[in-house]
Amino acid sequence: MIFNDKAAIITGAGQGIGFEICKLLADNGAKILLNDIDESLANLAAETIQKETGGICIALAGDSSDLVFINKMVDTAVGQFGRLDIVIANAGITLYGDFLTYSPEAFFRVMQVNLGGTFFLAQAAAKVMKEQSSGGALLRHRTPGTQKSGCLQHE
Ligand SMILES: NC(=O)c1ccc[n+]([C@@H]2O[C@H](COP(=O)([O-])OP(=O)(O)OC[C@H]3O[C@@H](n4cnc5c(N)ncnc54)[C@H](O)[C@@H]3O)[C@@H](O)[C@H]2O)c1
Repeated sequence: MIFNDKAAIITGAGQGIGFEICKLLADNGAKILLNDIDESLANLAAETIQKETGGICIALAGDSSDLVFINKMVDTAVGQFGRLDIVIANAGITLYGDFLTYSPEAFFRVMQVNLGGTFFLAQAAAKVMKEQSSGGALLRHRTPGTQKSGCLQHE
């Protein structure tokens, strides 16, 4: 299994793409910290993955763009798994609205979750990966063709 002994955090993974990524990683031996802002979704998703893959998947519900919670996710992963190798900032939101009346609150919430949550999770995780002195991957995926995929690599 290609991710044996690897530990991963995936945000916004209670359903959809993040959930499928968790399942794939768990199927291939990774230990997973599965995050979602919706606690019941997170718990159900982690339970399902454990049952279906026989792997280790723990749920941690919370807002992946909250700076205090970001550190909690990283500390929990390191505390439970002893290391951190893979971080996927999958949580993302779209708040639709009319351009002329779009509110600053909606605009800054989208920036906070999609940009801030990605940047500060990558930063917190990179510190751990640097300490470990082994490679790690920090990923943020985007729609192909509309924006370049984000990938920060630490050797
Ligand atoms: N589905 C697509 O076609 C598509 C295309 C391109 C990019 N994306 C991006 O991929 C990611 C996942 O897409 P999806 O379709 O699986 O989304 P989804 O809406 O099915 O799932 C996203 C999950 O993120 C959770 N979430 C939202 N805000 C959160 C927060 N602040 N903290 C933690 N969890 C939070 C939601 O509760 C939800 O369970 C998103 O970032 C989305 O923008 C999706």
